[in-house]
Amino acid sequence: MSEIEKKVKEIEAGAADAIRSADTVDRLNEIKVSFLGKKGLLTSVLKGMKNVPAEERPKVGKWVNDARQSIESALAERRARFEEEMLTRRLESEKIDVTLPAKKQRMGHRHPNTIALEEVERIFIGMGYEVVEGPEIEYDEYNFTKLNIPPNHPAKDEQDTFYITDDILLRTQTSPVQARIMEQGKLPIRMIAPGRVFRSDEVDATHSPSFHQIEGLVIDKGITFADLKGTLDVFAKKMFGEETKTKFRPHHFPFTEPSAEMDVSCFKCGGKGCRFCKGEGWIEILGCGMVHPHVLEMCGLDPEEYGGFAFGVGLERIALLKYEIDDMRLLYDNDIRFLEQF
Ligand code: DAH
Repeated sequence: MSEIEKKVKEIEAGAADAIRSADTVDRLNEIKVSFLGKKGLLTSVLKGMKNVPAEERPKVGKWVNDARQSIESALAERRARFEEEMLTRRLESEKIDVTLPAKKQRMGHRHPNTIALEEVERIFIGMGYEVVEGPEIEYDEYNFTKLNIPPNHPAKDEQDTFYITDDILLRTQTSPVQARIMEQGKLPIRMIAPGRVFRSDEVDATHSPSFHQIEGLVIDKGITFADLKGTLDVFAKKMFGEETKTKFRPHHFPFTEPSAEMDVSCFKCGGKGCRFCKGEGWIEILGCGMVHPHVLEMCGLDPEEYGGFAFGVGLERIALLKYEIDDMRLLYDNDIRFLEQF
C-alpha cells in the first residue's frame, strides 16, 4: 500500500472515530469542517496531488472520493440518530396527560344587593312601575333646593355631603330623580329609581360613605295617602312574606307632607320581639309621604290638579334584613366565600 493510500485510510479511520464519539450536532459540524472543509485533512491530500506522478493521480482521486463518501455518510447517519433522539426527547417532555382533570370554569354569584334590587324591581314592575335612573353627580339644586330644602336649611347638614363645586355634589339621596322625572312633564308617573348615593359617613357595621337607595314616585290625579299605604303594604308582603304587617309612623321629610316612616312586623319572630328586631317586633324599612305641593310647583306641576306619593328605601338595609347579614361591610368586601352563599 502506498504512502498516500495509507494516509487516506488513516484520515478516514480518524474521522470515523471522531464521529462515533461526537455527542452533539455542533460537534458533527466541526468534524465535517476539519476533515472535509477547504482546509480540512482530506482536502490537503488533494492539494498535494501536484507531487503525485500523473498516472497515479486517478487512483489517488478515487481513494479520496471514497473516503469523502464514507465520512459523509457516517456524518449523515449520526446526524439522523441525533435528530431522532431529539424528537423522542421532545415528545417525552411535551406529552399531554389527557386523563388529568380540566381547569374548572368558576361561575360567579349575584351580589346580595343585586338579588334584593331585582326582587324590588320585579315587585314594582308587576304593579306597572317603570325603572329609571338619574345621575350620581348631581346639582345641589336637584339634590336639595327642588326638594324643598333651600340653601341654609338645617336639613342640609344632616346629610354630610361630598361637594365637587359649590353647586355640584355626589347625590346624597335618590330623591333628585323625582324632580328630574316630574320636570319632563310626562304624566301620570309611576317610577322607581334605584342607584348609588354618597354621604361623608364613617364606615361601620351599618354605615358606608357609598350605599344604594331605591326611590319611588307616583303622580296622577286623585292619588291619596290610602294609595301610598296600600302600595307599600303590598310591597312589604311580597318582599318579606304574606303574613307581614305594616305600620306607618308620622315623620318629617322636607319634600313630603304628610310624611311617614314605614315599619314591617319582624319576619323572624312575627312581631313578638326577638334579637333580630331588638325586642321591638317591628323593623323600620323606609321613608315616605305625599309629595309636597311646593315640590310639585317647583317641578312645573299644578298642585291643584296633580298630586302623588313618594318613598325611599335603603337597598343595603333590605339585603341585610332579607339575608340576615349583621354587618354591612360584608357586602363590600367581595370575599368569594361570603358571596358564594347567595
Ligand atoms: N331621601 C330620603 C333619605 O335619604 C328618603 C326618603 C324619604 C325618600 C321620604 C322619599 C320620601 O321619597 O318620600 O333619607
